[in-house]
Amino acid sequence: MTQETKKAVIVGANGIIGGNLIRHLVEIGGWEIIGLSRRGGASEGKLRHIAVDLLDAADAKAKLAHLTDVTHIFYAAYQDRPTWAELVPPNLAMLVNVVEAIEPIAPRLEHISLMQGYKVYGAHLGPFKTPARESDANHMPPEFNIDQQDFLEALQKGKSWTWSALRPSVVIGYALGNPMNLASVIAVYASMSKELGIPLRFPGKPGAYHSLLEMTDAGLLARATVFVATNPSCGNQAYNINNGDLFRWSEMWPKIARFFDLEVAPPLPMSLNVVMADKEPLWNAMVKKHRLAPTPYADVSAWGFGDFVFGWDYDFFADGTKLRRAGFHDYVDTQEMFMRVFADLRARKIIP
Ligand SMILES: NC(=O)c1ccc[n+]([C@@H]2O[C@H](COP(=O)([O-])OP(=O)(O)OC[C@H]3O[C@@H](n4cnc5c(N)ncnc54)[C@H](OP(=O)(O)O)[C@@H]3O)[C@@H](O)[C@H]2O)c1
Repeated sequence: MTQETKKAVIVGANGIIGGNLIRHLVEIGGWEIIGLSRRGGASEGKLRHIAVDLLDAADAKAKLAHLTDVTHIFYAAYQDRPTWAELVPPNLAMLVNVVEAIEPIAPRLEHISLMQGYKVYGAHLGPFKTPARESDANHMPPEFNIDQQDFLEALQKGKSWTWSALRPSVVIGYALGNPMNLASVIAVYASMSKELGIPLRFPGKPGAYHSLLEMTDAGLLARATVFVATNPSCGNQAYNINNGDLFRWSEMWPKIARFFDLEVAPPLPMSLNVVMADKEPLWNAMVKKHRLAPTPYADVSAWGFGDFVFGWDYDFFADGTKLRRAGFHDYVDTQEMFMRVFADLRARKIIP
């Protein structure tokens, strides 16, 4: 490795965020890339995967002991748990274990990037202040994102490397088998509606149909993450990152229906977790009938996340101008993004 080559460790390499970040780094070149996850993956070119359980500090230390030339750590791992309080211990432990394994042995370390989200603003708890700003005060714990940031801020004191935190809205992009994947939720729900010969109904709370919200394209997020991590003036700060436009489901839903060649019917609040629980046989039949890539139902059904997002009967957006003022001017058209991601799922034969 030359002194100019940057070496990135992507923590959470199979995730919707980590996977898309890896694709971006491969595309732009100039990076050696190490992906960390429990499942691992196929190494090729400048990308190498390491299978490691980051909940196990000893496993992390042993498997990462050779990573002495790392320049950037991009943290986007996630352990799902049923309550906000239960999210804290595993998600803090994974960050601590990976950083404590690499930071002391990597003298060329320049930056640690932390993936957060609007949970920092209490967006998951109820109607939070909009637009949320990076300077907003913290809310009542437990909040794993804040604990993770506190850990990094404290560790960075007196060090030459810097940290940053990226705060996306709901992230839209390609991924399978992850608990927070709204694009798959909508695509599979719409495909099943079509298979059953019924129109597309918004399944969320009545107020959610008309609230203002925004999304973050996974590719845009990857570009922003690398921009912040490689821009010294962005060090030791947090940045919101969103597509740059707002929408309401009431306007987007008919466009989504059109993509799937479906009629729209009035919204009907229902729990996807409940009503989609018995649909595995239907999914398996669809896979066979439409000759789809054989994807297990569990890998395309993040129904609990759908219920969560479609339950937001309040405005859901943050101010994205801090990152623009820092020099990142990229944006994404949210309608175009949804159609592109659905078309990608179709091209990959995940949906009919
Ligand atoms: N998805 C969204 O819409 C969204 C929106 C805003 C913010 N965020 C935030 O972004 C962060 C990442 O979320 P995500 O949705 O990208 O997560 P994700 O798709 O579930 O990915 C999590 C990654 O972590 C890895 N992982 C989990 N446990 C591990 C362990 N014990 N050891 C090693 N690797 C482990 C997983 O791979 P293995 O299973 O193979 O281990 C996977 O690669 C989270 O903090 C989340 O709150 C997400």
